[in-house]
Amino acid sequence: MTEHVLRETANGVLTLTLNRPDKKNALTRDMYQALGDAIDQAEFDREVRCVLIQAEGDMFTAGNDISDFAAVNAGEGPANEARRGGNPLLAALARAKTPLVAAVNGRAVGVGVTMLLHCDLVYVDEDALLTTPFVNLALVPEAASSLTLPSRIGHARAFSMFVLGEAVDAQKAVAWGIANEVAPKAELRARARAAAEAVAARPPAAVAITKALMRDPVGLAERMDREGRHFSDQLKSPEAKEAFAAFAEKRKPDFSKVGHR
Ligand code: COA
Repeated sequence: MTEHVLRETANGVLTLTLNRPDKKNALTRDMYQALGDAIDQAEFDREVRCVLIQAEGDMFTAGNDISDFAAVNAGEGPANEARRGGNPLLAALARAKTPLVAAVNGRAVGVGVTMLLHCDLVYVDEDALLTTPFVNLALVPEAASSLTLPSRIGHARAFSMFVLGEAVDAQKAVAWGIANEVAPKAELRARARAAAEAVAARPPAAVAITKALMRDPVGLAERMDREGRHFSDQLKSPEAKEAFAAFAEKRKPDFSKVGHR
């Protein structure tokens, strides 16, 4: 368990709070494990009928911790070992049976967006800004988002988000069907909690069957595997090395010298 993910259960809702605000809630391996375990365990906890994901600080999450990515690129032991066996949060999202609700405050980057595509209800505040800049980091889509994002918003918009890093603001997120509604910043958590509690009060079998009928967990897991192979290769690539070094050195990356595949 890590102090970077807080857990609390009340009124049938398990609330998971990302709690690493000094690093913009960038997700570490321990945080993925804690989130994945909590979502998996929710299925067997009779007190939990809905999971709510929210975040402390001024943004939802800056996505995967880039220093963990850089460690994999450099072939460093623990992070490298830890990536074998896949990402526990993504695996849990693919097979989740418990309804998931998200309250997105401010920015969400990378996996902070792709996880929303597995949530059943999404609330964003006025400052929400969604980006999936995988290609800017020389990476590729994950969490089955190469399937879920184009099917949700269309190919052209998804390509622009993935490859050009197009930022989607709160209104657009609702218009494009990524989020249910925009809530004022001060009301975001209460709005999302009310929705989660409303879900938790519904007949549980009917809710579970409805969610199951709307999803294809086998197809999602297959897509995650396919993406994961490319993602792992790209993580170790020279172009990713340049992207991670640029982030650490707070400069723009220069891909003009890396070879074409
Ligand atoms: N991984 C690791 N550390 C991160 C991080 C990430 N994804 N995102 C932010 N941080 C750290 C910064 O390095 C900084 O640490 P420091 O105080 O020790 O220097 C701290 O969090 C604050 O970030 P900062 O960049 O100063 O905040 P900002 O408000 O100016 O910008 C972002 C916020 C999200 C725009 C910017 O941090 C960013 O672009 N992060 C990377 C996002 C990304 O590409 N994620 C991977 C997607 S696949």
